[in-house]
Amino acid sequence: MKKLLMVMLLGVFVWACGGDASKSEGSYTRPAEKAEKMDDGKGIGVTNVKLNVPLNQEMVANGKAIYELKCAACHRLSAKRVVGPGWAGLTDKRKPEWIMNMITNVDVMLEKDPVAQKLLEECLTRMPNQNVTESDARDILEFIYQNDIDQKAKG
Ligand code: HEC
Repeated sequence: MKKLLMVMLLGVFVWACGGDASKSEGSYTRPAEKAEKMDDGKGIGVTNVKLNVPLNQEMVANGKAIYELKCAACHRLSAKRVVGPGWAGLTDKRKPEWIMNMITNVDVMLEKDPVAQKLLEECLTRMPNQNVTESDARDILEFIYQNDIDQKAKG
């Protein structure tokens, strides 16, 4: 429970940082633009993910298998960036919904989500759509949470 709270707090923190970038446009926002500018840090698509406490190890195992098949070429489990960013610390930086949307709705995310766009600027490669179903993406998310526990245990 404590961890969940921390994840949520950090999510808010990241959101606050991400929000800064748009400040240069001035502080007044016309009401019609407001909805679009209010970035809740969840990305575009899935709006509500319920986390499992403790993690569901069956889902973790399936998520890991998909990771090895479809993601490992570009993503390390450590923080090291190869083609895409390393995954360590991902659950501290991003909301679960955002991670899900990056997996299942990457084209729209790269087009519209400010955090995804910033990553693209850094990585200079577009993450391809991996054709992952929402249910498989949820298992990958479970694995991403397990990975953060494992990475922290390593120190
Ligand atoms: C061909 C390389 C490639 C593959 C394969 C790939 N990705 Fe990515 N991924 C990227 C890149 C590059 C980015 C950074 C955004 C961008 O530049 O498009 C990224 C970003 C991400 C992010 C956001 C990372 C962060 O730091 O916020 C997540 C989550 C993610 N990918 C998940 C996945 C999952 C899950 C798979 C497998 C189903 C996968 N990716 C497969 C290249 C890839």
